[in-house]
Amino acid sequence: MGKILVTGGAGYIGSHTCLLLLEAGYDVLVLDNLANASLEALRRVEALAGKSITFVEGDIRDQALLRRVFTEHAIESVIHFAGLKAVGESVSMPMAYYDNNVVGTLRLCEVMAEAACKNIVFSSSATVYGDPDAVPIPETAALRTTNPYGQTKLVIEQILRDIAVADSEWRIALLRYFNPIGAHPSGRIGENPNGIPNNLMPFVTQVAVGKRPQLSVYGDDYNTPDGTGVRDYIHVMDLAAGHLAALRHLAAQAPCEAYNLGTGKGYSVLDVVHAFERVNKAVVPYQVVDRRPGDIAACYADATKAAEVLGWQAKFGIEDMVRDSWAWQSANPEGY
Ligand code: NAD
Ligand code: WQD
Repeated sequence: MGKILVTGGAGYIGSHTCLLLLEAGYDVLVLDNLANASLEALRRVEALAGKSITFVEGDIRDQALLRRVFTEHAIESVIHFAGLKAVGESVSMPMAYYDNNVVGTLRLCEVMAEAACKNIVFSSSATVYGDPDAVPIPETAALRTTNPYGQTKLVIEQILRDIAVADSEWRIALLRYFNPIGAHPSGRIGENPNGIPNNLMPFVTQVAVGKRPQLSVYGDDYNTPDGTGVRDYIHVMDLAAGHLAALRHLAAQAPCEAYNLGTGKGYSVLDVVHAFERVNKAVVPYQVVDRRPGDIAACYADATKAAEVLGWQAKFGIEDMVRDSWAWQSANPEGY
């Protein structure tokens, strides 16, 4: 099987995807600048798979480096995870986000075109749906967003659609992830946020492990069954499998296609907390506080297209997600 360039492959979703790629027999080359990752993640992926990864430390904006990678390796396809992803930080550092995410993707695509490697699977996000008109959200829903991070995803999607119009040899999958949580069931790899977690699940696991006193639940006055925000949590191993399904289907699809990767089910903040406590026999003290600015009430996928077209469906449920998040956090209280 061919060689896959995985940008951002040392990160949370990238590391889990690398493991499945190795297990499926692909050659994996990771390019990562380690801005938000540790090499230890890749060492553990190699140990789990019993196979090695070619690692290049560097930035997707470094075209000289990218050219060297494409010259020295016969790259068949690219899975493009590299990017900055913190919504709040993107509001205070918009230039860094546009440069890293948008300019970085453009630089990558330019070198891919030079090398005649025109297959790319891109990490988009449900954030491109903004505050949706209705749930579940199909891929055909209106695209809009509320923050610079989301704007970078919208702009990158548009750039990729335009590239596919100009040159129909490209095969581009825009994977719109819902809310990835969980970890590899071994507990050896998982999400390792820097500083105070922005996202719900790493915050919950850090409270459960005693690193933080309590969870702040951001609002219980939303128009949802229990008043707390509802999201489509998806196990990171299912998400990783979605990348392999998209990769395998690239040749058979139109030049550019978008796919939702979610379970199609919505869980509230309190559903997640209670599932976590029940499954892991742990205690997660919480306090309801004000809404977090920019949050929406409910967001979950219509995941029909990925099932029908890619033959991919999430297999894991919320119990698996909270169990595996805890397996990772409890075995690695300080992360990598
Ligand atoms: P992550 O931060 O763990 O992984 C991103 C990786 O990219 C990191 O290893 C980082 O070091 C690397 N990186 C960043 N900028 C780079 C650059 N310029 N050059 C080379 N490497 C660079 O994040 P993740 O959760 O694994 O997310 C992966 C992708 O999926 C991102 O594009 C993110 O926006 C997208 N996404 C994530 C979520 C989520 O909730 N985790 C949801 C939707 C979409
Ligand atoms: C989930 C729910 C919060 C933390 C973000 C990005 C999105 C995507 C995924 C990249 C919400 C509540 C959270 C806490 C809480 N990332 N919450 N207390 O906001 O759905 O999506 O990550 O593309 O673009 O916006 O995820 O995990 O932050 O929040 O009550 O300490 O948990 O209000 O209802 P979100 P999240």
